[in-house]
Amino acid sequence: MFLRNAWYVAAWDHEVTRGLLPLEILGDRVVLYRTEAGAPVALEDACPHRKLPLSMGRIMGDEVECGYHGLVFDTAGRCTRMPGASKIPPAARVRSYPAISRYGFVWIWMGAAGEADPNRIFPLAHYDDPRWGRNHGGCMTVECNYLYVTDNLLDPSHVSWVHRTSFGNAACEEEPVEVTVSAEGVTAARWMHNAEVAPFYQSLVTFAGRCDRLQHYEVRFPSHAIIKAVFVPVGTGGKGRPIDAQALVMDSYNFMTPINAERTRYFWLQMRNCYPGDESISKAMDDGVRAAFEEDRVILAAVQQGFDNKVTPNIDLAIDRAPLLFRKRLTQMIAAEQQLLASAG
Ligand code: FES
Ligand SMILES: [Fe+2]
Repeated sequence: MFLRNAWYVAAWDHEVTRGLLPLEILGDRVVLYRTEAGAPVALEDACPHRKLPLSMGRIMGDEVECGYHGLVFDTAGRCTRMPGASKIPPAARVRSYPAISRYGFVWIWMGAAGEADPNRIFPLAHYDDPRWGRNHGGCMTVECNYLYVTDNLLDPSHVSWVHRTSFGNAACEEEPVEVTVSAEGVTAARWMHNAEVAPFYQSLVTFAGRCDRLQHYEVRFPSHAIIKAVFVPVGTGGKGRPIDAQALVMDSYNFMTPINAERTRYFWLQMRNCYPGDESISKAMDDGVRAAFEEDRVILAAVQQGFDNKVTPNIDLAIDRAPLLFRKRLTQMIAAEQQLLASAG
């Protein structure tokens, strides 16, 4: 069901504090907190004694004390105190998940801890580049399986209908999409020529008149997307052509973390190659993006319901090629991982 050997966004950095934060991630109950030095910690949220969530206990220094009978666990999940016992048995432990702060998020590794390489965290280009602006981003819970969200993020065509007043316009309806598959993920991309600038981007472009526009929708395994939008003066854009100096480039990062099979935590932030540090632009972008993603949220929850309750088969269209390729490859990766786990266990 899920790829476990992968980094997922667990929370925004500011959500992880010196308090105990209970979360469900990939169906696992996890508790997050920070050490006194500020490092994020992620432990299984279930005491090995009576399975009370550790999140109902309290933090003691860098350790957590269970709220039922006082067992204490360190950041590695080992029991360091067992009131009334002369010896602590080795089974008195909880699982500890690798966790790292980066790009304003806390990332969690849900698979074999020995495989958790921080270099595999999804890279955010230009994150610290002073010439680029970035908005604060946001998050929401979507009442659907995460694969309906990855489907949506490999489907540039939906903007014409779902986001008619923001990201999309009529120009997005007919242009064919080019699909490419790599070891990292799947991309659906297209250049649209001689188009109007879509409403969301109108205040950001620095050139006048119509445009050529690139939509680059890329989802990497297991569920991280970069949606790149490029707007250049009409006549200057196209595959393989250098990007015009006046181009508006917006990179939208979308990180989907499955809560379980039916719910998804969706995190995002956007980078732009203009107006660095302009708080009013960032605010307007944050508001615009959230409004548009609310449109997706409503559609995707209803799609989940539709599939759950279907009485006739659904059909696939040509525009589903990228999502279907992504699902197929990810299913193979999950099966291979499960097989590896089974043979190791
Ligand atoms: S349930 Fe945690 S110490 Fe008993
Ligand atoms: Fe959308």
